[in-house]
Amino acid sequence: MWYRGSPGSRYDIDERCMALKKILVLHGPNLNLLGTREPEIYGSLTLADINARMEERAEKAGAGIDFLQSNHEGALVDAIQQARGKYDFIILNAAAYTHYSIALRDAIGAVDVPVIEVHLSNIHKREEFRHRSVIAPVVMGQVAGLGAESYLAALEAALIKLGVV
Ligand code: DQA
Repeated sequence: MWYRGSPGSRYDIDERCMALKKILVLHGPNLNLLGTREPEIYGSLTLADINARMEERAEKAGAGIDFLQSNHEGALVDAIQQARGKYDFIILNAAAYTHYSIALRDAIGAVDVPVIEVHLSNIHKREEFRHRSVIAPVVMGQVAGLGAESYLAALEAALIKLGVV
């Protein structure tokens, strides 16, 4: 499902100027269940809560931001491919696909858009199969283990790298 800045927002107005920096946030499988999904690991905020916090920060900084959550690998691959020329940065929580999706890794490698990999939990201190990220070698950096703040830290880094703040 796609979400974007509300009509009449600063984002909408600035978009017409074409100089607006745009960030795409991609959430992978099962992240639509945040809030009720293993809250002891992933926290009690819903995906809508996290998106709202990111949207608020991006709008304050004067950057555009769109969100997509999908449980389907191909939809995420399509979104990464289509981000080329349209977005300046991608913030990606590939969820379980992190650990085995060569298709996502190849998509990131194929587009000229910098990516920050995000995880709510610290994947490095969980089950061994979560320690490996097949996308890590093709992303700019990784933020993990800070809960919702992982996304906000990634957004802050993207805003700085884009020269927006
Ligand atoms: C996750 C960690 C993954 O191992 C897991 O499959 C997820 C969420 C995280 O945000 O902590 O679905 O990416």
